[in-house]
Amino acid sequence: MAAEMLVNMLSKSEHRKHSKHSLLVLLRTVGSSLIVFVCMYLLYTANQQTLTYPVGLNPSVVTDLKRRKVLHYGHDNTSLIQRSALPRYQYFVSSLSDNPASKFYSVWNEEATIRKSPNNRTIIVAWNSTPKWPPKKPCPSMPGCVFTKDQRQVANADALLFRGIHGFPLVYNRTYFPTVRHGHQYWIYMPYECPHLTRDVDLASYGGVFNWTFTYRNDSDILATWGHVTQIYQELAENPPDPNRDYSKGKTKLVLWYVSNCYKHLSRFPYAAELRKHIQVDIFGGCGNSSHCEKKDKQCVIEHTRQYKFYLAFENFKCVEYITEKFWDNSLRNDFVPIVLGAPKGDYERFAPPNSFIHVDDFESPEELANYLKYLDQNDEEYNQYFAWKTRPPNTLPASWDGRYCEVCKKLLQASPTERKVYTDLDRWWRGGKYELCEPMIYDGSYKHPRNAVHFH
Ligand SMILES: *[C@@H]1O[C@H](CO)[C@@H](O)[C@H](O)[C@H]1NC(C)=O
Ligand SMILES: *[C@@H]1O[C@H](CO)[C@@H](O)[C@H](O)[C@H]1NC(C)=O
Ligand SMILES: *[C@@H]1O[C@H](CO)[C@@H](O)[C@H](O)[C@H]1NC(C)=O
Ligand SMILES: *[C@@H]1O[C@H](CO)[C@@H](O)[C@H](O)[C@H]1NC(C)=O
Ligand SMILES: *[C@@H]1O[C@H](CO)[C@@H](O)[C@H](O)[C@H]1NC(C)=O
Ligand SMILES: *[C@@H]1O[C@H](CO)[C@@H](O)[C@H](O)[C@H]1NC(C)=O
Repeated sequence: MAAEMLVNMLSKSEHRKHSKHSLLVLLRTVGSSLIVFVCMYLLYTANQQTLTYPVGLNPSVVTDLKRRKVLHYGHDNTSLIQRSALPRYQYFVSSLSDNPASKFYSVWNEEATIRKSPNNRTIIVAWNSTPKWPPKKPCPSMPGCVFTKDQRQVANADALLFRGIHGFPLVYNRTYFPTVRHGHQYWIYMPYECPHLTRDVDLASYGGVFNWTFTYRNDSDILATWGHVTQIYQELAENPPDPNRDYSKGKTKLVLWYVSNCYKHLSRFPYAAELRKHIQVDIFGGCGNSSHCEKKDKQCVIEHTRQYKFYLAFENFKCVEYITEKFWDNSLRNDFVPIVLGAPKGDYERFAPPNSFIHVDDFESPEELANYLKYLDQNDEEYNQYFAWKTRPPNTLPASWDGRYCEVCKKLLQASPTERKVYTDLDRWWRGGKYELCEPMIYDGSYKHPRNAVHFH
């Protein structure tokens, strides 16, 4: 139809100059080519539109992606998005090597480059900073290491830090990144959280973008855990506890849980609900009783919590090595025994002080755990064994630890001036070849809707 009309239109304006017959033949050919071209273009743009979003999400999630609310909505059943093919980083490097060690990244050498940072400082630009990130003084012990939110400093920067959540492009988008990329600069990917919380980002489109990873996993280029044994023992050395202290003394209550993310899909909720059937668990925060303390009244909180023997340090997600401040700050820096659910036990054993926690995987059921806690409640000596580590630091500790941001500074100072590295398959590195690095889960809607939340009262 369109072609016929086009041919007629053209032939009307042109037929004065040429013989009508040969013109029609010519234009019919041009016309049908045009149709094919238009169809292909439409198909192409339709495809482009689909591929703008991670492939494999259901349409309701795609709608929500536009509103950037995917963390609270969605029904993706794989728990993590599918690996898409398009679009790609402009210098996309595919990881074709058969060497398993280089499955996720390439390493090579180039001529040494002289850093440009003035006054011998290390400059790190937090590219997608927010009012709260990075923190005000990320690494006070190394004043020559400067973190800045000023994107204009990028020409002088030794490294650029990209926080991989909240506003990070869901698919690689070159206009979001600096226009000029200096060969000596490290672009550092900092997902900040675990793969579940970055699941709306199509990392397959980021192959060849980032030089280093900065995460809680031990195979990251820079370790970004929420805490570190060396730091914990340093604090204890400054303020040594009495080795004969009885930690059960003055404790009249059993299990405490502070919890405010009430997403129903988190596996800790069914566990806690079952546990409560067998032992008293007092729950405070958004998902339980509101605390009787004002938010800023630290003394009140201390007095309230010190009555408890056990603390549920249940992570939101079960991912390899994912151990957050729930363990490091809320538990080890207080005088209760943390009961942990999250990463496998072996991960806690590698990261944490010996015998400093109770792992739920050691028990057949929540009921068995409850029985064990009741047993400890009756046996002070056994209970105190969980605090023995505080006065028995190991002979060898890993090097000093001043927090994750200092690790960035240290790594930059140690970096070889010739070695280059880039992640060719960030997606598989971060999520695992078969998404095996986190327990899959089904997200079932906004927790803000009462139907989708868990509240204990
Ligand atoms: C999730 O996927 C599995 C296997 O594909 C299917 O059996 C199940 O019904 C799905 N569940 C939901 C809630 O979509
Ligand atoms: C710059 O810092 C490095 C390492 O801290 C030091 O070895 C070097 O002497 C310094 N150079 C200047 C010009 O201050
Ligand atoms: C790409 O990033 C730029 C700059 O942040 C933004 O303005 C633009 O809308 C993004 N494009 C897409 C397709 O997301
Ligand atoms: C790193 O983690 C993996 C599994 O999570 C573990 O097998 C390995 O021993 C760890 N390596 C170190 C040095 O902690
Ligand atoms: C909330 O407080 C009441 C009264 O102290 C108590 O009976 C109840 O068990 C508490 N609920 C939770 C979830 O801790
Ligand atoms: C980072 O990766 C980019 C892209 O492959 C590369 O050009 C650059 O030299 C790398 N930088 C370093 C310090 O490895």
